[in-house]
Amino acid sequence: MSLQNVAHPDEVYTERTTQSRAHMERARKVMPGGMTANIKHFAPYPITINRASGSKFYDVDGNEYIDYLMGYGALILGHAHPHVREAIVRQVEEDGTWLFGTPHDREVTMATRIQKHFPSMEQIRYANSGTEANLLAVRLAMAHTNKYKIAKFEGHYHGAIDSLLLSIHPSKSDAGEQEDPQAVPDSGGMSPEVANETIILPFNDIKSCARILEQHKDELAAVIIEPMEGGIIAPKQRFLQQLRKVTNKLGILLIFDEVKTAFRSAMDGVQGVYDVTPDLTTIGKVVGGGFPFGVVGGKATIMEQSSPLNGTDIFAGEDSEASQKALFHSGTYNGHPLILAAGIATLDVLEQEYDALVARTDRFREELTHLFRKHDIPMKTVGSGAMFSVLLTERQEINHYRDLQKCDHDSRKKLDKALFEAGVYTKPGNRYSLSVVHDDEALTKTLEAYDRVIPEVIRY
Ligand SMILES: Cc1ncc(COP(=O)(O)O)c(C=O)c1O
Repeated sequence: MSLQNVAHPDEVYTERTTQSRAHMERARKVMPGGMTANIKHFAPYPITINRASGSKFYDVDGNEYIDYLMGYGALILGHAHPHVREAIVRQVEEDGTWLFGTPHDREVTMATRIQKHFPSMEQIRYANSGTEANLLAVRLAMAHTNKYKIAKFEGHYHGAIDSLLLSIHPSKSDAGEQEDPQAVPDSGGMSPEVANETIILPFNDIKSCARILEQHKDELAAVIIEPMEGGIIAPKQRFLQQLRKVTNKLGILLIFDEVKTAFRSAMDGVQGVYDVTPDLTTIGKVVGGGFPFGVVGGKATIMEQSSPLNGTDIFAGEDSEASQKALFHSGTYNGHPLILAAGIATLDVLEQEYDALVARTDRFREELTHLFRKHDIPMKTVGSGAMFSVLLTERQEINHYRDLQKCDHDSRKKLDKALFEAGVYTKPGNRYSLSVVHDDEALTKTLEAYDRVIPEVIRY
């Protein structure tokens, strides 16, 4: 049974977003494609937002939306939660500035808070994004093992790092066999060599992973994985435990990229749910309270390599041989006091309200599933905790990128655009990230919007 979607008139979109279009015309004169991040783009032009409150935001034409993008999952307390706002103001007032450039107390407070949920992060370093955190994790792994290749999974995203920006979204013709995926660069401007330096693995297929890793064990520093693929596709029972066993046996480090999932899929991350201890973990998004932040943590023996006590700093003007002994990691804004204040305040609230948020998200997913069933449209939701995606598919199981590719993404995007008109926003095709302020009223309004829009947009 295949879906045939009925085109929803794009004119409705353009009629109600004339100021967004005007904004984009101005933006395209000064920024490539009018964008500061390619991910923000969708055709014919994205909606421009200029105000937000709680679970809602408003575009430059004055339209109101319930926001399910929530800053790509970062804003788990919604927009401008009062506890976070107070913490930010208090930080500036009490500290008298928002940047010291020296050690300070919140660096330790935050580390301790993170370790409470992620005991595998025995020692911690801060960075300014998930991308930066992964960059450091890869360097730590290479230094620790004296090996210089990385294995990553097809369909998994870790930021715009040359060695990891491969096979996130490969075309069917380039991707190779399912059991033997090929490395396909995801961007221009990358050396053709990178495709030889990174090994691609198939998610949820431990037999193929074990075979590929055995083949490359002498050159592989680490396997990096989104342990819940894309934040939505669950690992099969025991897949992560088996991957841990194989990597341990072969002397390859295991890095969990929990940038999306930490404090969103579960308070203790996917590693907590599946009881697997990686060597290194990277987190970001939620833990930065909506500000630019990334964290690397893991085994003390690995993390200690970046200690300045091992050598000196490249900027210190001292013995340059000593500086080469320490693994370099630095950053003007690392451990930014304002960001740590926002992040700690976010954890304060989340520790109290997370379970209720998950219960509400689960109920919402169930009600959405019933609604699609009522309209006789095959759909399943995938995800966990306070994050999920709506997949238009008859498939029972979604195990990896290639299953995901077989879903009806065109109809999903049309549905999302039609939902704009009904006051419901996520970037077309993207995940739903709920927050503690998505209350019953917002969720009911969303279900009513879906009920109206589904038959307008999708039919057999
Ligand atoms: C799993 C994962 N890793 C890394 C990143 C990169 O994080 P950032 O955008 O903060 O650089 C992302 C961002 O979406 C992500 O989802």
